[in-house]
Amino acid sequence: MPSEPVTAPSTLKHAPVWDGFVRAFHWSLVLLFGGAVVTGKVGGEWIVWHMRIGYAILALVLFRVLWGFAGGAYARWGSFLAGPSAAITFIKRLLARGPAHVIGHNPIGGWMVLVLLLLLATQGVMGLFSNDEIATTGPLYRYVSEETSVRLMSWHRQLGNVLLVLTGIHIAAVIFHVVVKKEGIVSAMFSGRKALPPDLARDAEIATQARPGRAAVGFLLLSLAIAVVVLAVNWPALTR
Ligand code: HEM
Repeated sequence: MPSEPVTAPSTLKHAPVWDGFVRAFHWSLVLLFGGAVVTGKVGGEWIVWHMRIGYAILALVLFRVLWGFAGGAYARWGSFLAGPSAAITFIKRLLARGPAHVIGHNPIGGWMVLVLLLLLATQGVMGLFSNDEIATTGPLYRYVSEETSVRLMSWHRQLGNVLLVLTGIHIAAVIFHVVVKKEGIVSAMFSGRKALPPDLARDAEIATQARPGRAAVGFLLLSLAIAVVVLAVNWPALTR
């Protein structure tokens, strides 16, 4: 997770960082998370859509977990889950003036990504087993006791609020990097290319050289993730 002293914006170079799957994953997640929040809060007939969106989020998160082992250099877990000393060094860079360039996720953001993914997965799985005692049950609610499924519903509601707070922190951190530190990280999540000091840009160019077959692996893993969720959701009907 190399970082650099302040570099004049004119000397920055755009280098490829986020592969297409990471970008598609992120913006799909933003839309689906928004949809899940709105349909969950509105409730009523919209719960059907809330559940469908939840299944899609589960598949997306499962795909992202797998992509952390097979994706591009900066999609991989090993590239952004840093130790405490890297985090402390990075905090000092944050407190100093000017941008705190890193190629992929920074050492704090990396852990936030992991927490968000784990909690999104937990939220989705709890939804599968939940029971609101009125009209809605998750597809797998019958595999746990009535008491457990009602408790999972209550945790699902509470974790929804926790996720909203964490998302707020995530967006606030992104705004801080863009507005205060003048790093174009939002445009990088669209284009895949980050503005970096020349030596970091060179490292990124080398690390992200095209690997034949990676896109095929990505589509295969995405199909696998979708298949696992479709199978789980339809398991009661299949095993009746
Ligand atoms: C409009 C709102 C949002 C913006 C502008 C935004 C922006 C970003 C940016 C710029 C990054 C890359 C950070 C970096 O450079 O290290 C990122 C990563 C990430 N964001 Fe967001 N985000 C938004 C909403 C969300 C929401 C709602 C979620 C989920 C609840 C989310 C989850 C994530 C995750 C999991 C990553 C890591 C991506 C990966 O490595 O696959 N974001 N976001």
